[in-house]
Amino acid sequence: MKIKNICCIGAGYVGGPTMAVIADKCPNIQINVVDINEQRINDWNNYDLKKLPIYEPGLDEIIKRCRGKNLHFSTDVEFNISIADLIFISVNTPTKTQGHGAGQASDLKWVDASARKISQHATGETIVVEKSTLPVKTAETIKNILKVSNKKNKINSLDPKKFYVLSNPEFLAEGTAINDLINPDRVLIGGDEPNAISALCGIYKNWVEESKIITTNLWSSELSKLIANAFLAQRISSINSVTALCEATGANISEVAMAVGSDSRIGNNFLKPGPGFGGSCFKKDILNLVYICKHYGLNEVADYWKGVVNINNWQKKRISQIINEKLFGTIAGKKIGILGFAFKANTNDTRESAAITICKELLIEGAKLSIFDERVSYEQIKSDLKDKEDSILKNTWTFTKDIYEITKNADAIIVLTESEKFKSLDWEVISENMRSPSWLFDTRGIVDIKKAMKNNINVWSVGSGDLIKKNIY
Ligand code: UDX
Ligand code: UDX
Repeated sequence: MKIKNICCIGAGYVGGPTMAVIADKCPNIQINVVDINEQRINDWNNYDLKKLPIYEPGLDEIIKRCRGKNLHFSTDVEFNISIADLIFISVNTPTKTQGHGAGQASDLKWVDASARKISQHATGETIVVEKSTLPVKTAETIKNILKVSNKKNKINSLDPKKFYVLSNPEFLAEGTAINDLINPDRVLIGGDEPNAISALCGIYKNWVEESKIITTNLWSSELSKLIANAFLAQRISSINSVTALCEATGANISEVAMAVGSDSRIGNNFLKPGPGFGGSCFKKDILNLVYICKHYGLNEVADYWKGVVNINNWQKKRISQIINEKLFGTIAGKKIGILGFAFKANTNDTRESAAITICKELLIEGAKLSIFDERVSYEQIKSDLKDKEDSILKNTWTFTKDIYEITKNADAIIVLTESEKFKSLDWEVISENMRSPSWLFDTRGIVDIKKAMKNNINVWSVGSGDLIKKNIY
């Protein structure tokens, strides 16, 4: 099977960058990325590359090279399905908010709708690839929807369509997506149709070593993606749980993480403490895993993984409470500067960002927030901080693109992302700007706290039990 034309349904954080890299590495393949969201497609087609809907380092250069040549963005879903040899389903799969499994199971309505569109409009032989992270056995649902289409066609004596379903989960992390796609640790392909697998492998072989391409059965591939995310999130909850212990005992989390991570069996990646993990995947995928475990009656396994999410929620709450306590138990009317609102540095994505929960808690206590983020827009923050009882949160926060503005007359500043900018702040200026006694809360442990302390600023840095005793308040 030769792949000449690819269609990707879903021009989001996964579909967009992934297709851009495939287009760049495979100039002989035409790629059409389609989305039902017209604004998003217009943004992908924007002449001004600064206005692309997603910020990813290096993405704009690839778009510049490939867009209009072999990479196209369109809302014409039906036509682009009809001409495709291979279709990636890369639509979002949020946690269900109502009905059976609400709060845990993934909402598959978009995947279902995409499969139906494919079954209607595809022609001839088509490989259908799940790119979205999905519950185990979703491929079976997709296969069933596509099978019905085959039968109908036979009854109407039309040319029968043939579908091959594969799973090919994406492991990219936002902020490093382009590098992750160009140099993946592995590419995982699940399926049981050798020709289709070999066609998809053929695409990746254009730039990925063959030894890094792993093939498994469909269910192992689907499950591996959920488990990989659960393991990563588990490490963060583990290290975050230890931050509280360090603070209580006088130990220092960076020393503990370094000593523990030096064991090659453990390794030192993903051991950075923080305000709690965010992003579109970790929480959703773990809750999904919990749901699947319960479905199979594996309640102990479900409880085990649920603990990872519980610790994450606890860390966010714990940090808001510490801020309140340190500011003499009342933050009403006090100005607090927020450094970083995205769920991590180098992205404009705020989905599940710890900043949303922490800012809301502070606003409810009556604080006045001044928020800085280099990539997130005012409109996005406004939508994230919207509440049912909007009145409490309204007009009590401002947004600025000037870091030092947030420090003027502030009682405290809180570092919530690990942006490079926050590592080299001018503490002399900040100290003069702030109201005394002034506080710095570093939830990422990245700030030059010695300099801050030298300038008479009280410091709380996550997991720095040794520091807490040195404050000057
Ligand atoms: C990710 C991953 O794909 C998935 O693995 C994970 O489970 C959730 O989020 P992401 O690319 O980050 O998806 O999501 P998003 O940025 O929301 O993009 C999905 C796009 O699909 C949206 O632009 C949406 O408009 C589009 N979509 C959705 C369609 O084009 N058709 C639909 O029927 C539904
Ligand atoms: C994650 C997975 O890494 C990726 O493989 C998968 O495809 C999608 O989900 P992403 O959510 O984009 O990627 O970012 P990631 O770098 O994993 O960070 C997730 C969250 O964990 C962020 O809030 C980040 O700040 C936090 N984190 C990460 C820590 O707090 N400490 C760490 O050591 C690493």
